[in-house]
Amino acid sequence: MSSQQDNQRVEKDRCLVRQWMSDPSAEPLVIQYGRSYKPRDVLWPGWASIIRQNLRSLLVLIAGVIPLSSCKVVIYRLLGMKIGKGVFISPHVMIDPLYPELITLQDECVLGVGCRLFTHEVTATNFRLGRITVGADSVVGAYSTIRSGVTIGEGATVGFDSFVNRDVPRGATVVGIPARVLDGREGAD
Ligand SMILES: CC(C)(COP(=O)(O)OP(=O)(O)OC[C@H]1O[C@@H](n2cnc3c(N)ncnc32)[C@H](O)[C@@H]1OP(=O)(O)O)[C@@H](O)C(=O)NCCC(=O)NCCS
Repeated sequence: MSSQQDNQRVEKDRCLVRQWMSDPSAEPLVIQYGRSYKPRDVLWPGWASIIRQNLRSLLVLIAGVIPLSSCKVVIYRLLGMKIGKGVFISPHVMIDPLYPELITLQDECVLGVGCRLFTHEVTATNFRLGRITVGADSVVGAYSTIRSGVTIGEGATVGFDSFVNRDVPRGATVVGIPARVLDGREGAD
């Protein structure tokens, strides 16, 4: 990372991330980063932000191993997650340590054992950010993975070990990799 052009691109991408964060209804943000800089140059411009990120990651790790759901809820709320009433978070759930604040868990939903919610994603060329909403009274099946940008509708069920990369209609049951609606269980939408 050296040339003035690279510095300008990094600054522009930082600005894009800030703007995207301030719009709760925005579609997932995908940034193509150059060969000459990495997502970390955009996300953590200085030591203070690196230290802050490490502390947040530590809290996410601690919440992950605490067995009591109510204690997890307290920690995740401190990290900015929006969590409704009666939400149950099972052991070994993995919450994205980079952007937990992009996750909303609505009332009475359940996160099954070992499921994973990723609000960010890095590939060799792209960086993607997206919000995740888990609808009221829905269940995320054990060991499933939810991709950034996905909304799981109210009262929906995600089967064991699924990969959910599209929105799930209200009341539907989805299974598989990638997750698809089970015949006869399309739900209400
Ligand atoms: C999706 C689920 C609810 C379906 O259970 P069910 O109503 O008893 O349905 P069935 O077992 O009759 O399965 C129906 C079909 O879906 C398929 N299926 C069920 N779960 C599946 C999964 N996780 N992945 C892929 N296919 C699945 C079955 O093979 C069957 O297909 P077929 O009709 O071609 O034989 C259940 O399998 C499941 O995954 N539950 C997750 C519960 C969970 O993790 N809760 C949170 C932690 S406790």
